[in-house]
This record gives sequence, C-alpha cells and structure tokens, in this order.
Amino acid sequence: MSSISVRWKRPYMIYRRSGHSGIQLPAISLGLWHNFGGIDDFTVARDMVLTAFENGICHFDLANNYGPPPGSAETSFGRILLNDLKPHRDELFIASKAGHDMWEGVYGTGSSRKNIIASCNQSLQRTGLDYFDVFYSHRYDPDTPIEETMQALIDLVRQGKALYVGISKYPKEQQEQAYTILRDAHVPCLLSQYRCSIFDQKAKQANFDCAQSNGSGIICFSPLAQGLLSGKYNKGIPANSRAAKPTGFLQESQVTEERVEAARKLDEVATERGQTLAQMSLAWVLNDPRVTSVIIGASSVDQLKVNLGAINNLEFSTEELKRIDEIVQKPTISF
Ligand SMILES: NC(=O)c1ccc[n+]([C@@H]2O[C@H](COP(=O)([O-])OP(=O)(O)OC[C@H]3O[C@@H](n4cnc5c(N)ncnc54)[C@H](OP(=O)(O)O)[C@@H]3O)[C@@H](O)[C@H]2O)c1
Repeated sequence: MSSISVRWKRPYMIYRRSGHSGIQLPAISLGLWHNFGGIDDFTVARDMVLTAFENGICHFDLANNYGPPPGSAETSFGRILLNDLKPHRDELFIASKAGHDMWEGVYGTGSSRKNIIASCNQSLQRTGLDYFDVFYSHRYDPDTPIEETMQALIDLVRQGKALYVGISKYPKEQQEQAYTILRDAHVPCLLSQYRCSIFDQKAKQANFDCAQSNGSGIICFSPLAQGLLSGKYNKGIPANSRAAKPTGFLQESQVTEERVEAARKLDEVATERGQTLAQMSLAWVLNDPRVTSVIIGASSVDQLKVNLGAINNLEFSTEELKRIDEIVQKPTISF
C-alpha cells in the first residue's frame, strides 16, 4: 500500500456528532493501545492505520504510555503520519492522553500540571504533530486537586497544543466537577471515554447520562472486552491472542468459563442476525444513541475489515436486546 493509494471510502462510514460541538467522529475509531508498539510488526501496524483511514476511520486514539515500550505507539504513528498521511493531516482527528505511569520519578505518573504539560510536549515530539485534536486526562487522580488537572488541560488549549479536551474513566462525582470547571473556562469537555461492552455496562448506567446532559460526546473503549466478545476464546486460548501474550492486558484468568459460555450463546444471536459476534458486539454499543464512537483494537487488517462490517446492521429488535441481557445476566458477568 503506497501513500498515493490512501483515499477515503467515505460512503462506507457513519459519522456522529460528539456531544454539543461541531466535531463529527466516525462511528468506529481505531485505538493503538496494543499491536502498534516497538515490539510489534510495523508493516502490519501501518497497513491497519492506512486501511482504517481508507475506510473512513479518521479518528485515531493514542496515549503517552501505549506500546510496549511506553511511547512507541506514538512513535510508530508519527512514522506513518510522516511517510503516508502527512497530506491528510486536516482530515484526521488524533487523540492522546496523560495520567498513567509513563516515566521514572514522581512526575511520570498522575494528573498533576507537571505531568500533563510535560507529557503532552513529549507526545507531540514523538508523533511529530504540532497539536492534538483532543488531549485527555487519562484518569482521575485522587492525589491531585481536580482544579489543577483541569487547568492544565485548559492551558494546553490556550497554548495551541490541543484543540479540544477530554476526560477518561472519571467517576461520576469528578466527571460532573470536571465538566463544570471546563465549561466555566470556556473550554468545554467534548469527549468522555468509558469502557463499555455487552460484558461491562457499568459506565452506561453510571456516567452516560451525565456526559450527555453536559454536552459531552461518549467514546467507548474495549467494546469486545479485549477480544472475549469476538468468540476467539470459545475453544481455548489461541496462540498469539492478547490473553496468550505476556505483554497483553487481558489476563488468562479473565478468560473465565462463565464469560466464554456467554460468548458462545451470544454468538448464536449474532449468527441469527447475519453478523459475527464481534460485529454484533460493536453494533450493540453503537445502538445506544448517546454513544458517539466506539474505539476498536485490532491485531490484523482482516480483523479490522470484519469489524468495519458492524455498521451494516446497528438495529436491534426488543427481543434480541432481551436475549442478550438474559445471556449476560446483569450484573453477574462484568468485566
Ligand atoms: N481511556 C482508556 O483508559 C482506555 C483503556 C483501554 C483502551 N482504550 C482505547 O480503546 C482502544 C480499544 O481497546 P481494546 O483494544 O481493548 O478493544 P477491543 O475491541 O475490546 O479488543 C481488541 C482486541 O480484540 C481482538 N479482536 C478484535 N477484532 C477481532 C475479530 N474480528 N476477531 C477476533 N479477534 C478480534 C484483537 O486481539 P488479539 O490480539 O487477541 O487478536 C484486538 O486487539 C485501545 O486501543 C485504546 O485506544 C482506552
């Protein structure tokens, strides 16, 4: 694939507005948490990014610590930008974040002003970007006053290093506080990231209404519960899967019989809908009108292409939704 062949197949993608804003995002976005690091095959990583872009995925989700080693996913993405996507910068919406463990010493983690500003500067350097489209506080840090964290985000916008700001995984109380502080500074929070899948509906209950009523878009991550909802673990743990890799965040112990059994039953519902389990699981997240975009992960171009097919059927009958709820027996199965 050469840079010259990078062309959007826009009609394929659906775009949704992110909260009360002018931003439209693709219903499916690509995240670079796994499989884009220095230990991964760069050719596959590049093919996935370019295939995503060709198919209308213009929103790419990074963080300072994505790798391994930490930072290397941003470096890989910077290489792809430089060599393939540079002429397309204004067609792209690129996100990064700071807040989890990144570098040695007391300033390398948490959500202090020191960490956020230094981290954003490092991320800009690694990606070669002049600015991020959105910069997130990756997590609420109970040891830092929330006013300090939010002021750092506000200043990144004032400095021209980010166009918009977002929060990730903030508990309800701090979520509400963050929206208020940012709105009062005229830098509204337009993107809020939460984990959401058929197996993990906690944020749907706890945080989505708050985001929506405060004008923030909702960006859902780990929609396949890191692969459990693709059905790939239905016959054991395949070699090279995330659960099999020492660097993967999905532990073997999380591949429980209860979850695998539920995935098998969900697979039957998906087949009746004419979808794969992965496609149905993505469609289920997108079926909630409060959701702007679902961030997927992938380890191959084939997975990405299969997952893109989810948008061909986002509708669910009441009966299908009831069957899915019964299979996961809320709240017995949570992730
Ligand atoms: N804000 C936050 O704190 C936060 C936290 C986590 C994630 N995120 C973002 O969300 C993104 C997505 O998270 P995620 O990677 O956990 O998402 P996910 O979609 O739940 O899991 C992706 C993994 O599932 C497997 N998979 C995907 N499609 C498949 C298919 N069609 N068939 C078989 N297996 C398939 C692949 O793993 P294998 O390696 O097994 O093939 C793939 O890497 C991240 O990259 C990141 O950008 C944000």
